[in-house]
Amino acid sequence: MRQNEKKEAFIGHATAQDGAAMHQMAGLCGLDQNSLYYYLLFGKYFAKTSAVARINGQMAGFVTGFAAPEKPDTLFIWQVGVGSDFRGQGLARQMILYLITSPTASFKYLEATVNPSNKASQALFGSVAEHLGAGFKFEEQIFSENDFLPAVHEAERLFHIGPFGSKAQEHKA
Ligand SMILES: CC(C)(COP(=O)(O)OP(=O)(O)OC[C@H]1O[C@@H](n2cnc3c(N)ncnc32)[C@H](O)[C@@H]1OP(=O)(O)O)[C@@H](O)C(=O)NCCC(=O)NCCS
Repeated sequence: MRQNEKKEAFIGHATAQDGAAMHQMAGLCGLDQNSLYYYLLFGKYFAKTSAVARINGQMAGFVTGFAAPEKPDTLFIWQVGVGSDFRGQGLARQMILYLITSPTASFKYLEATVNPSNKASQALFGSVAEHLGAGFKFEEQIFSENDFLPAVHEAERLFHIGPFGSKAQEHKA
């Protein structure tokens, strides 16, 4: 766990005990709110690729992610949410950097799918790439609007960062 001294934020890996709060925060953040079971599973079985930030003991943000079996060197970020009271403090970026630079992590790439209209999300991943000193590509759509039918959902494009350079080592604890 790392402390952001300026804002007294504590960032650490998610646990199953964080599941209910992650589920609630996903809804408050306007993210696709998956079942509570999804968040319990990420805390239990994907803890090394999922993170939470706490301020004064309260959940301020979370990240869920995984490493696909065929791409073990790539951290795939599924959801990132930061409570509206806690935005603009670098928490989302710090949680993602925490996952990449924790001592047991050995990722070389980061991927996430991003809605073209979500400028905050694009700015976030661009900022992560900058802090890692890594290049990035905002690739063509990975899922089209038709893929989501009958639901109405914007197309998703793949944001690909890496390989991470030596600058990533500076963030290692
Ligand atoms: C997107 C979100 C996670 C950002 O959280 P945050 O903690 O405020 O982000 P950070 O403070 O770490 O900002 C990281 C970078 O993104 C930029 N950024 C963050 N929000 C932004 C916004 N609304 N517009 C433009 N840029 C933004 C910051 O300026 C920063 O860039 P910098 O390092 O160049 O200054 C948060 O706004 C949120 O939860 N939104 C709703 C859910 C969502 O859209 N999640 C992302 C898709 S999974």
